[in-house]
Amino acid sequence: MTEHVKTEIADGVMTLTLQRPEKKNALTGAMYDTLSDALVRAGTDSSVRVVLFQGDGDSFTAGNDLADFASQARGESAVDSPAHHFIETISKATKPLVAAVQGNAVGVGTTMLLHCDLIYLADNARLITPFVNLALVPEAASSWLLPLRIGHAPAYAMFALGEPMEAATALACGLANAVVPQGELRKRAHDAAIALTRRPAGSLRLTKKLMRDQQRIAAQIAEEGQLFKERLKTPEAREAFAAFAERRPPDFSKLSA
Ligand code: COA
Repeated sequence: MTEHVKTEIADGVMTLTLQRPEKKNALTGAMYDTLSDALVRAGTDSSVRVVLFQGDGDSFTAGNDLADFASQARGESAVDSPAHHFIETISKATKPLVAAVQGNAVGVGTTMLLHCDLIYLADNARLITPFVNLALVPEAASSWLLPLRIGHAPAYAMFALGEPMEAATALACGLANAVVPQGELRKRAHDAAIALTRRPAGSLRLTKKLMRDQQRIAAQIAEEGQLFKERLKTPEAREAFAAFAERRPPDFSKLSA
């Protein structure tokens, strides 16, 4: 349990609100664990028909806490297990997942959306997957799902150059259902969640299952996860995390592959 994730269940909707706005909702191990536990509970709790993700403050989430990555890179804490567990759990969710995204959605903030079913973006939303800038590799099956959804070239630019994707572009390439003014975001997403609670749950479950290649997703997550763990321990990754902490650009020029 952590004070940085609020879990509420009302009218068939489990709302999970990221509440660490002072750190742009960067996800700590405890936050991942709370999210995973909530998703597992949602899977079996008949009072939950839909899960809704949202974040307080000006950013949906800045992704994995980079201080946690840095301590994993130094070998001071277990590599990535709460994050990996969350990715596995969200990828296996059987109930509909809805997301309300404002501001920056970095790293897992974007890759988790590939496992959500309805996605509403505020007009200031930006999807960013700077895995290569951090000397890492894509996760959450995004190395397969993102090019599948938007094509190789734009997906590569997001992964390799860290190019942000603006809300309007995300809508145009099918990554979202609607772009709405910031003040309307939560209501729009919640209304959609409520609409789903009124649909037959059995039909929704099967429709979601039919729309996802679960085996392929699991295999991709496993392969990425292995490489991600290896990358976290590289001098390149240590340089990337040190640069973020020291608020300077990373210098990879003296490091070879
Ligand atoms: N992990 C830990 N702390 C983070 C964080 C992260 N992923 N992202 C932001 N923060 C912290 C900053 O260190 C800062 O803390 P401080 O006030 O104690 O110095 C605070 O949140 C505000 O961040 P700041 O960078 O000043 O905000 P911004 O509006 O200028 O930029 C981002 C927002 C999200 C673009 C920028 O913070 C960023 O790029 N963060 C890193 C994202 C990332 O690489 N995530 C990992 C993906 S795999």
